[in-house]
Amino acid sequence: MSLPRADFLTNFEEDQGQGLRTVEDGYRLLDLGNGHPYNIVHQTVDRHVKRGLGSRIALRYLDGSRDESWSFDQLARRTDDWARFYRSRGIGKGERIFVFLPRVPEIYAAILGAIKIGAIVGPLFEGFYEDALRDRLADSGARLLVTSPELVSRVPLRELPDLATVHVIEDLFPSVPNHPYDPEPALSMEPDDGYIIHYTSGSTGKPKGILHAHRAMIQLAITGRWVLDLRPRDVYWCTAHPGWVTGSQYGIFAPWINGTPCLINGGRFDAATWYRYIDTAGVTVWYATPTAFRMLMAAGTQTRSAHSLASLRHLLSVGEPLNPEVISWGLQTFGVRIHDTWWMTETGAQLIVNLPHREIRPGSMGLPLPGIDVEILDADNRPVPTGQSGQLAVKAPWPSLMKTVWNNPEKFLAYFTQVPGLGKFYLSGDTARKDADGYVYFLGRGDDVIVSAGEKVSPFEVESTLVSHPAVAEAGVIGKPDGVRGNIVKAFVVLREGFPAGEELARDIQLYVKTRLSAHAWPRELEIVAALPKTRASGKIMRRVLKAWETGSPIGDATTLDNPERVTLALSPA
Ligand code: WT7
Repeated sequence: MSLPRADFLTNFEEDQGQGLRTVEDGYRLLDLGNGHPYNIVHQTVDRHVKRGLGSRIALRYLDGSRDESWSFDQLARRTDDWARFYRSRGIGKGERIFVFLPRVPEIYAAILGAIKIGAIVGPLFEGFYEDALRDRLADSGARLLVTSPELVSRVPLRELPDLATVHVIEDLFPSVPNHPYDPEPALSMEPDDGYIIHYTSGSTGKPKGILHAHRAMIQLAITGRWVLDLRPRDVYWCTAHPGWVTGSQYGIFAPWINGTPCLINGGRFDAATWYRYIDTAGVTVWYATPTAFRMLMAAGTQTRSAHSLASLRHLLSVGEPLNPEVISWGLQTFGVRIHDTWWMTETGAQLIVNLPHREIRPGSMGLPLPGIDVEILDADNRPVPTGQSGQLAVKAPWPSLMKTVWNNPEKFLAYFTQVPGLGKFYLSGDTARKDADGYVYFLGRGDDVIVSAGEKVSPFEVESTLVSHPAVAEAGVIGKPDGVRGNIVKAFVVLREGFPAGEELARDIQLYVKTRLSAHAWPRELEIVAALPKTRASGKIMRRVLKAWETGSPIGDATTLDNPERVTLALSPA
């Protein structure tokens, strides 16, 4: 199956006519030089106000009861209020400010204000609890935290000596000032200075603090224009919270650099409500995850048919494999194609994409962005012949590539390899293949990292929280294939002496992880077993065997293993 190109002229074609051919050419879309500060917030907010476009809508917030809009002018004022506040607290260039708030307009201003004064901002997903918060705030040496009365109780403040200021905002919906605008200047930065840090999961160890640099603005400008096809008259909806890299790079910077108004949704997922938002706001461009599309699919055609959805003209997906069935459903349901995009927290921006004017090959993630070279490497990091599978690698650098892994230069260096004759490449950890035309097909993760509902989850992190439960002696965590979420987190645990196995205890352990670690990483299925499979030599828990237990595939050579047999004592949900 191959789908023809969409029938509209894209920014890409217009820009190619003007000689913008690669990501680097994106410089010309930006307001650089001429005394303008080099700061991504200047491009995101101030540039529009200075051009006289301040009255244009920047964001429209919708939840069950509220409907609020901010113009770029109001966003600029609120951003500047935060910038002045941070300056008054003595925060300087390169210091870390964390923002732990639900998805309300204020979180955007608090994030932008921090970057404007040259600080590094760490937005935190509102579903995090104390274990996840401690890791991130401690590792980054956060100086200041902005949060709400409800969320602050989850922060282990006594264990965070570097955190000098905790600013709890009582009112999540303050009225936006209308005083005469006295712009607070953005600090001019170097392209390689950091502006945002996102923690992401690996297969071993604690989450890694991926630091991005102001130079990412070029790639966010050009992918916002070419891939999202954003224009000022669009209404764009990115469904991710800014605590995730999609919600920051493509929920703040790419759209606003392009001057495009954004819909911000408060509250939880609900199919009918989401469809209603599209009609209420007149959404034209929509960026979501395969999981979200599958949840809408599951809600059925009746829920769909109560809404017009006629405003939608361009749909995109990220985070996990986009099944061909979902593309077909999308075409039927919205009358437009869903365009897959591939990237990672570490890559800072989209790298493999489906440009709106190109053919889509369902099952593939698309083609490398102009200016980006992708190779498939074998175990010795040599390119494989066309069609064969191997590790997906990208020629480094590119403008939005992470600057470093916070506090961990070794982990940063481990992402790169020298390919003889081709130069330095970034190793993604994904397994993929390319066809003869260069379309890239995702085959899986090459490590134990679980991608659930479009977010990476580290089995190690979940196991660490599990074994801190008083009843749990040992834990092994894997991804279990799931029709809606791609994978769910599945835990196998062995109990300590004296704790009787039962469904109730299994549920208690699940809830413990949910309220200790994160609302996105808790094990939706938990099985109490008599013993975990381990290597006899080193006593290492074999996640590979847990996977085989779960999928019914053969476990292979079991002679070097202890406990290769699964003995289930209790299961939740049963
Ligand atoms: C991992 C990165 C930055 C996007 C949000 C997730 C998987 C990402 C796709 C896609 C299949 C995908 C990969 C990747 N992934 N996009 N289009 N098709 N898989 O960012 O949490 O850093 O996860 O998500 O496995 O390595 P992340």
